[in-house]
Amino acid sequence: MSTSTIRHRVLIVEDEENNLKLLEALCRKLGYETEVARNGYEAVEKVHRLMPDLVLMDVMMPEMNGFEATERIKSDELTEHIPVVIVTALDSREDRLKGISKGADDFLTKPYDTTELSLRLRNLLKVKEYHDFLKHHNLILEEQVERKTRALREAYDKLDRSNKKIRFGYIETIYRLTLASEYKDEETGAHIRRISFYTRELAAALGMNDEYRETIYYASPMHDIGKVGIPDHILLKPGRLDPEEWEIMKTHTTIGAKILRGSESPYLKMAEEIALNHHERWDGGGYPRGLKGEEIPLSGRIMNIADQYDALRSRRPYKEAFDHETSVRILTEGDGRTRPEHFDPRILDAFKRSAERFREIYEEHKDDTPAADRVT
Ligand code: C2E
Ligand code: SIN
Ligand code: SIN
Ligand code: SIN
Ligand code: SIN
Ligand code: FE
Ligand code: FE
Repeated sequence: MSTSTIRHRVLIVEDEENNLKLLEALCRKLGYETEVARNGYEAVEKVHRLMPDLVLMDVMMPEMNGFEATERIKSDELTEHIPVVIVTALDSREDRLKGISKGADDFLTKPYDTTELSLRLRNLLKVKEYHDFLKHHNLILEEQVERKTRALREAYDKLDRSNKKIRFGYIETIYRLTLASEYKDEETGAHIRRISFYTRELAAALGMNDEYRETIYYASPMHDIGKVGIPDHILLKPGRLDPEEWEIMKTHTTIGAKILRGSESPYLKMAEEIALNHHERWDGGGYPRGLKGEEIPLSGRIMNIADQYDALRSRRPYKEAFDHETSVRILTEGDGRTRPEHFDPRILDAFKRSAERFREIYEEHKDDTPAADRVT
């Protein structure tokens, strides 16, 4: 199934006709479908009826203002995950604080900067896509984790009332952590799905049981979450990194592990293990710890080769996309940067056996971001 026709739907809430037309034109130019509401009541009603992917919310409106509408959207379980961006006048610190207290996800100031608008919308929509993916694919997981975290939360609450780490359920934790940082890597929802499928494929080829396959399926998309801590000028650099930048880049492993640390959920535990170990190499030449052979957790070894296949197939700020054959050749025969000795021979062998499935997974889950969406 091709997902290339999916278009994000943005609800624009604005009473002033000129502003409305302007925002509508901008959103359409970015490739989004638009819907309109002219006051807070209409906004709340349309959010429920149309389930948009994002809401652009003006503050000053007749009937019900933007703050109250935001509060209603965010206090309803059915709509709380929909990102709300509050549109305020320049420098309105008071509006921002009030918006935060009502649950707004981001702010835009008038007059609009087209680049800023498109970047913010793109980031928020990407996070929502990730959230929808996890939610859609795992209501059972959510229930199990909810149950466990609830028990854990109660136990911890008795010990330490200020321990925020365990206050949220699994899905919400990831959602909020990802939201909290402005995530600007080029990685997309399609990449997240592919990583899940590749790692599950390798786990199956290695004979791992159902539980392991399911755990890695959900844990692996978070491998690079630590990139949220890497400055843009490094993450998005078009060319090679200098040694100092490279030292910073390598910390995405330890930052990721730190973000995910301390959960009782088996999914988050494996996610932490993967974030920390996915750049270790079998021959001991990897980072951050230079672990060798089976000192590296299996999940990290599986992720390492899945990550590299996908990175090779994809365009990055610093490289072009390679085709399937070239990518397989680099992994199995090596190039200036990659050597077969980097990989666990058992997993490299499993990869060779599964290579056709990797090709299919990549083809089936190609980038689903509309072309117009990428213009920034
Ligand atoms: P990433 O872009 O997701 O790449 C993940 C891994 O895929 C890399 O881990 C590397 O092992 C492999 N890989 C990616 N592109 C190539 C390639 O063209 N040839 C070969 N042989 N392997 C490739 P690595 O090296 O540990 O890099 C980790 C992350 O650091 C990368 O994630 C990327 O975000 C960043 N990075 C690495 N090199 C550069 C660079 O030259 N410039 C910039 N701007 N970022 C870089
Ligand atoms: C799927 O997307 O294939 C369902 C998720 C799962 O099988 O674990
Ligand atoms: C995202 O793309 O927003 C999810 C973060 C990740 O890829 O780790
Ligand atoms: C880099 O220095 O940018 C990448 C280092 C490597 O190729 O391992
Ligand atoms: C396993 O197969 O369960 C782990 C063995 C290994 O670490 O390679
Ligand atoms: Fe990484
Ligand atoms: Fe990645």
